[in-house]
Amino acid sequence: PKAAILISGRGSNMVTLIEAARAPGYPARIGLVLSNRPGAGGLARAEAAGIPTATVDHKEFPDRPAFERALDARLRREGIDLLVLAGFMRVLTPWFVEAWAGRMLNIHPSLLPLFRGTHTHAQALAAGVRVHGCTVHFVVPELDAGPIVAQAAVPVLPDDDEDALAARVLEQEHRLYPAALALVAGGRAVLRDGRVAFAADL
Ligand code: GRF
Repeated sequence: PKAAILISGRGSNMVTLIEAARAPGYPARIGLVLSNRPGAGGLARAEAAGIPTATVDHKEFPDRPAFERALDARLRREGIDLLVLAGFMRVLTPWFVEAWAGRMLNIHPSLLPLFRGTHTHAQALAAGVRVHGCTVHFVVPELDAGPIVAQAAVPVLPDDDEDALAARVLEQEHRLYPAALALVAGGRAVLRDGRVAFAADL
């Protein structure tokens, strides 16, 4: 499948996904990096990696549905089969989510269902958990609530502050996302009746 990575910022997950997809036999090719923010740092990194980029600036549209129609049209025009949200900071409406049901992944920096929303590392420190991590899931209309494809855990250390914990989680994100995308792109993890079905092989 031809995947598009959607970003809004620096794109550190995008960089690791582009690198991973270069491996011979990787079951997806990264055909596009698309940002909703024209100035996103990840756009320059994608161009440096030779990946086509696009910008669909949400500020140029009167409302969310108009933005999503433009986004959807651009992705279809590029022949995209699979969406990979990586630091994409726009909430998507049920219309868009349903249009890409089973073909859209997101990475969230917590062990869902714990700590939905933002500032997840601050939430983890405040809650005093001793284990934290990241989750790759299929996107569903409810925010940070989709069927889980893969997770990675890290310890929370006694002297951790938000930055230290975030760095430890991000390191795992960069390992987890390429592996999770390969599972889905290779058809070894599929969304079926609202749950993830895993097949040992195709
Ligand atoms: C990461 O914490 C990721 O979990 C979340 O956005 C943050 C930035 O990701 N999706 P990136 O460096 O832009 O890939």
